[in-house]
Amino acid sequence: MTKNTDISAILPQTLADSLSEPKSHAEMMKHKTLTEKAFPHVRMRRLRQNSAIRDMVRENALSANDLILPIFVEEELKERQPIKSLPGIYRETETSLATAVKEASSEGIRGVMVFGVSHNKDHIGSDTMNPNGLLARMIDRAKQAAPEAAVIADVCFCEYTDHGHCGPINELGDVDNDKTIENVAMQAVVAAEAGADIIAPSGMMDGQVSAIRHALDVTGHSHVPIMAYAAKFASNFYGPFRDAAGCSLGHVHNVPTHRKTYQMDPANGREAIRDALMDEQEGADMLMVKPGMAYLDVLKELRQNTELPLAAYQVSGEYAMMKFAAEAGALDFQDVMMESLLAFKRAGADMILSYSSVDAVRWIKNQ
Ligand code: PBG
Repeated sequence: MTKNTDISAILPQTLADSLSEPKSHAEMMKHKTLTEKAFPHVRMRRLRQNSAIRDMVRENALSANDLILPIFVEEELKERQPIKSLPGIYRETETSLATAVKEASSEGIRGVMVFGVSHNKDHIGSDTMNPNGLLARMIDRAKQAAPEAAVIADVCFCEYTDHGHCGPINELGDVDNDKTIENVAMQAVVAAEAGADIIAPSGMMDGQVSAIRHALDVTGHSHVPIMAYAAKFASNFYGPFRDAAGCSLGHVHNVPTHRKTYQMDPANGREAIRDALMDEQEGADMLMVKPGMAYLDVLKELRQNTELPLAAYQVSGEYAMMKFAAEAGALDFQDVMMESLLAFKRAGADMILSYSSVDAVRWIKNQ
């Protein structure tokens, strides 16, 4: 076909009409209102046609600054142990923790979160309130290993109680809210004193943020920010974590086998926003939504309701799903992981906790 061929002759009539030159200004204006937001004037594929244009119009990007690495640390362990339900992830020893933190930090990771696997459990999780306990030792070790990285302390009790719940159990067989927040305030001070840069309460107790804020302020830690697990759901996606951190429920008689009296109902979106905004009112500096992928709507809505920095936690079950699917040959792990991390950015996350944080930073560098 030559340049001068009248292409309207070979097009369907409606398309030919809309492609033809308008004959008058009035016709042009009419034509414009009919077509200005529509095909064929608008063609979305124009901005997708090559990688230079795609790169220029890209709305979101992932960087090392966005990524936080959770690390499991088991006391009394001689050698780091692979976690069956999380292929590629280890329970570190207190010594190998330092190596893991150094490695993450040298790759450009700005924050690590430490989770203890305790051998000193009791009814209330008192080891967390001991300045020589596992929590304090992990924080100290991580901080010494990479002073330039932010050490985030997950403050909770479930990894340190013999029954696996996130606080002491009362006569009614439920977690005692007000005792738990007294204890978690002490735990937060122990964590801050051990060198934690950020305190992240994950127990979903009412009033935990204000209790922690007060305790930090009166003990000389008013500069330490709180990242509240603000909307944390009673999720089945935590399965591999409970295995990894040794905090499964159901092995102690007479305590509930679920956390539904404190973690949120996965059916509830409005309640999640209320709960998160209460944490903001209590003094939280950052808010987190957890789990991640199944709760992107909550993250997005929270983004529209607060000016605080937001974090999303891509939990163990999310990592495991992608990992095992990749191992079975159904998906490419790197591709789906990067896509899912980007989805958190699109939904409004400033920070993402992921077991693939170090992988992701390496992939970003090699892009
Ligand atoms: C509780 C806690 C949990 C996770 C992080 N902190 C488990 C739970 O609430 O049962 C889950 C993280 C994951 O699944 O990756 N301190």
